Order: sequence, then C-alpha cells, then structure tokens
Amino acid sequence: MATGVLRRAISRVQATQASKFVPLRFLASEAEARQVEPKGQGSTNLKTFSIYRWNPDKSGKPELQDYKIDLKDCGPMVLDALIKIKNEMDPTLTFRRSCREGICGSCAMNIDGCNGLACLTKIPSGASTMITPLPHMYVIKDLVVDMTNFYNQYKSIEPWLKRKNPPSVPGKEVLQSKKDRAKLDGMYECILCACCSTSCPSYWWNPESYLGPAALLHANRWIMDSRDEYTEERLESINDEFKLYRCHTILNCASACPKGLNPGRQIQNIKKLQPSKPH
Ligand code: SF4
Ligand code: SF4
Ligand code: FES
Repeated sequence: MATGVLRRAISRVQATQASKFVPLRFLASEAEARQVEPKGQGSTNLKTFSIYRWNPDKSGKPELQDYKIDLKDCGPMVLDALIKIKNEMDPTLTFRRSCREGICGSCAMNIDGCNGLACLTKIPSGASTMITPLPHMYVIKDLVVDMTNFYNQYKSIEPWLKRKNPPSVPGKEVLQSKKDRAKLDGMYECILCACCSTSCPSYWWNPESYLGPAALLHANRWIMDSRDEYTEERLESINDEFKLYRCHTILNCASACPKGLNPGRQIQNIKKLQPSKPH
C-alpha cells in the first residue's frame, strides 16, 4: 500500500514538474526565454557586415557601410543579421524580404560575391562579409533592385496554360498523367528570385534582348506541359538569335540557383526542340 501511495505521489510530482516545464518554453516572453537560455554571457563573437548603401534622395555615390554585430546574439542566417541591423542599429537600411524560408524569392542579393537568398544563406565564417544588390541590375535603394525588365521578360513567354480545345468534360480541369506531370520537375519549383539571370554573363551584356535563364526555364516549363496546345507557337516566338541563342551554356545559372535548378539544361532542351535555327 505504502509503495502504491509513493508511486502516485511521484507521478503527481513528475506531472506537476512536466506541466511547469513545458508551458514555460511556450508561454515565456522573448526576454524571459533569453534568461532561460543565456547566450554566452560576457563573451562576444563580433563580425562586420559591409553593406552596399545608396539613397536616391541624397546626393552622393554608392558606398559600403560597415556594421558590427555580435553573432552570439543573432540568428544563423544572413537575413537574421540584416533584420538585426535594421531593427537595432539602422532603420534606414533597405532590403526586400517576406517569407524567410526560400519561398517568395524576394531576399535575393549578392553575398560575398555569390548570388543567393539571404534567408537560406548561413552567415559565412570569417571576420567580414560583403553584401551587395543583385549584379547588373538598376538599384532603387540599398539592396533593392528594379525587377521590371525581369518580370516583363517572364510575362513575354505567356506563363499560363493556353488551349485551343475545351476540356473533354466541360467545366472540368484538363487532366495530366503522372508521367507527364513529372516532366515539369526541375522547373515548376522556380521562385523567380532572379539569382540565375543576374549571374549570367550573357544576360549582363544583353539584358533587354536576351530573355535570360529564368524566363527561358519558364518558357520550357510551358513547352513541356502536356496540357498546353501552343507548343509550336511558343517555340517559334523565342526562336531568335537574341532571345534564346545568347545562352552559351556557361552554366553560371545552375551554380547560382538557390533551389538547385538547372536553367541551362532547360535552355538546351528548347534549342533541341526548335525545328530550325533563326535566319
Ligand atoms: S547556361 Fe546560358 S543562361 Fe545559364 S549562365 Fe550560361 S549563358 Fe547564362
Ligand atoms: S531558376 Fe532558380 S535562380 Fe533562377 S529564378 Fe528560378 S529559383 Fe531563382
Ligand atoms: S525571404 Fe522569401 S525567399 Fe528569402
């Protein structure tokens, strides 16, 4: 009997301890949580971020501005560092971000010479890191670039399903086999971040006439879609020395893509499908 009472008492204490511990992690305010997990009090791990600054409302050339932050008091990603700088040191620092998980594509920038998404890029080791806007783009302010040309090029490939015939069952969707759906893998995942196009030397030299890897990847996405009935017209509309054939298969685009896609391979596919080269 005495053992049974003791067991019940122990389980009551364990339950009380558990109920005290679990809510503490969920209900604690941010300040309280920091007290629960002190971050190496007394020691710091300072790192310098040299960030491109340019404000169109002020006269003066663009410059790199240094910010020193303690990595022990910062999240692990480059976007965490940028948000910390903006929140705690300099609210004028301007950059785009939204989802913070590699979905929206808005935080694309150049980090230590490589294009990437700030939210998916770990803060590099080393004493300093340089952050600049996507290369060869017009800068609106600081790290924000003008994407108008990029989006217009995307629009030009008509990125939507085009049909000549109505669906076999009126009012229902146009069905696709699993095999045909799989042909879109490696393309549908694109988030239009522009890391590829802005790392492509051909796009740097001909940004208005060459469609660039992102728009061409999407062109191929619709060319390969079994439900689309404008394949020939799509191929014809980009069968152009500049729009398509400025790609020289350098493959910078594949190295830059944060989603692991290979736009260069999709461009090769479009070239192969062309019935003839432009005159
Ligand atoms: S493969 Fe084509 S699109 Fe990709 S970087 Fe090279 S030239 Fe540009
Ligand atoms: S292909 Fe990759 S790098 Fe290019 S826009 Fe899409 S997600 Fe970004
Ligand atoms: S914030 Fe959306 S991709 Fe980085």
